[in-house]
Amino acid sequence: MKKPDARLTIHMASSLDGFIARKDGRVDWLETADEFAGGDPMDPEFVEAFLKTIECYVMGSRTYETALRFEAQGLGWPYGDKPTFVLTSRDLPRSRDTVEFHRGDLAQFVNGRLRPAFRSIWFVGGGMVSAECLRLGLADEVRYSILPVLIGDGIPFFQKLDRDIALHLAEVKAYRNGMVELRYEVRGHRGGSPNAT
Ligand SMILES: NC(=O)c1ccc[n+]([C@@H]2O[C@H](COP(=O)([O-])OP(=O)(O)OC[C@H]3O[C@@H](n4cnc5c(N)ncnc54)[C@H](OP(=O)(O)O)[C@@H]3O)[C@@H](O)[C@H]2O)c1
Repeated sequence: MKKPDARLTIHMASSLDGFIARKDGRVDWLETADEFAGGDPMDPEFVEAFLKTIECYVMGSRTYETALRFEAQGLGWPYGDKPTFVLTSRDLPRSRDTVEFHRGDLAQFVNGRLRPAFRSIWFVGGGMVSAECLRLGLADEVRYSILPVLIGDGIPFFQKLDRDIALHLAEVKAYRNGMVELRYEVRGHRGGSPNAT
């Protein structure tokens, strides 16, 4: 049976011009030197407590390969000990016990496997998987963290969609490092707020 409040969130960080990585996959621009005096500090205790609420991560194979490269460079594994599902049709190296590969029907996987087991399901990229998730009507909310930088070209946040997706702006937060976090509920979706449909 589905957990009644199972929620699927798409979250990524993007440049102001809507890119999640440079064409060659680099995300060096995520580190910016901006300071916005009116912004909230990024309180590590709050971040830690918030991360605890995420029950599993889902990502495309290219995002997984990037995470493996970062780890090999000594930058750590950002998904802790949470179950991490990687969408791929290839045989990729399994870096740890918490990683599980999935191929096949994404809607069936989300509704039949993830929603019954996890309350807070985070899709963490990339652009291809996020678009597929929206196209299939699987996402309840989109969290968009905008960094104060323009990079001109790169991999877009959402790759091509075949229709408009109406959203309801549910939360806006600005941080001292110049990052703005927008949280949108997907309208007309069972996960949206009643007045967002
Ligand atoms: N800024 C951020 O917050 C952020 C977050 C995440 C990623 N990124 C960056 O984004 C880039 C990757 O994004 P991307 O859009 O190129 O790729 P992606 O979405 O990470 O991965 C796409 C791949 O996932 C597999 N896939 C997709 N849908 C599937 C499905 N339903 N079932 C099975 N496999 C499926 C396919 O690979 P196979 O060939 O393996 O089948 C597909 O080529 C990386 O450079 C990463 O660093 C940035």
